[in-house]
Amino acid sequence: MLNKLRARILSLQFRAIRRTVIILIAKIPKDLERAIVFGDALNHLLMISPFKQLFKFSIPKNIQVKIHDLTFDSPIISASFKDDVSSLLQWLLIGIGGITYKTVLKEPSKGNLRPRIQEVSYDGDYGILNSLGLPTKGVSKFLPKIDNKKLTKFNRPIGISIGGNSYEEYYSVFSEIESHLNSLNFSQFFYEVNISCPNTDDGKCLSDDLETLKKLILNFRDTSSRVIVVKVSPDSPDEEVLRVCEILSNISKTVINVGNSKYIKANTVGLTSKNFSKEGGGLSGKSLYNNTLKTVKMISSKYDIPIIATGGVSSYENVNELLKNGASLTGMATLLVSDPFQIPLINYRLSND
Ligand SMILES: Cc1cc2nc3c(=O)[nH]c(=O)nc-3n(C[C@H](O)[C@H](O)[C@H](O)COP(=O)(O)O)c2cc1C
Repeated sequence: MLNKLRARILSLQFRAIRRTVIILIAKIPKDLERAIVFGDALNHLLMISPFKQLFKFSIPKNIQVKIHDLTFDSPIISASFKDDVSSLLQWLLIGIGGITYKTVLKEPSKGNLRPRIQEVSYDGDYGILNSLGLPTKGVSKFLPKIDNKKLTKFNRPIGISIGGNSYEEYYSVFSEIESHLNSLNFSQFFYEVNISCPNTDDGKCLSDDLETLKKLILNFRDTSSRVIVVKVSPDSPDEEVLRVCEILSNISKTVINVGNSKYIKANTVGLTSKNFSKEGGGLSGKSLYNNTLKTVKMISSKYDIPIIATGGVSSYENVNELLKNGASLTGMATLLVSDPFQIPLINYRLSND
């Protein structure tokens, strides 16, 4: 009872502070990234202070989910979109069942020009449009932070999202990470292969070449016994998603994640070249939900592989409906930045089902 009240109060405070920061920092010129940089710095200060204990919520024992050899304390996990330890730590404290690092590439990349992330309204729903273009420090800078003790001490699964522009790049990132993980003492790491890419210049990605994807996953499997998730795009046609499921259903310890952000043109949500540097980007948030549910139903009616439902999940009702329709886990990005204290509230309601 008291914990629910605390989560509600923190939720109100968080949303008020977030809105104030956005109004003061990100409105003129309009660039949400300025508020994100400021917010991350603020969050970091909070996470190294004793006040972080205020955010700690225990997860009811009866909502644990086991997938292959991984144990998620809650069916809600963070989707791949952040890699600063403070954000990941905050979500673990709040009660997330597992985390996923932002996609890492072989070489460092600054991503696209700013402004490249904005708040938008799509079909009347709150959303985020991003054309970050996968900024990354590259795999060699990423390796040292993988087994951060602040994160591994929760003993919840940690996903490592891998991206690339070719088979060779994916494989090289994977090999470097795998040999590093083998030297560590933490068993709950898993891989997520990001084959969807609304932000690359040529728009091409592994989802266009499923034979190569199959070869890649088979080669990962030969080298590693860790769970491998493949994350598809809501822009992929149903046949393509089913074909990926077909491939995965014949390879052990695999999972499908539906899915990434959805490509839209920036001018359809009122953005211009002044406040969005690219012609379009990946939409996240509530408006993706119906498609996520439809895809989960389609896959679970045909295949027996674990499904992570990501895209527009923003309430207890969404999580419950997805789990009832065949998802094993739900992934979240937008809700975690707009109202993270919903997580303990959803966990408590799930535990009473
Ligand atoms: C700012 C931002 C960055 C993202 N970066 C990645 C990424 O690096 N890799 C990835 O697979 N998905 C990325 N995503 C997509 C999210 O993981 C998620 O699939 C998508 O936002 C839909 O979920 P949501 O509606 O809960 O936000 C990103 C999303 C946002 C908003």
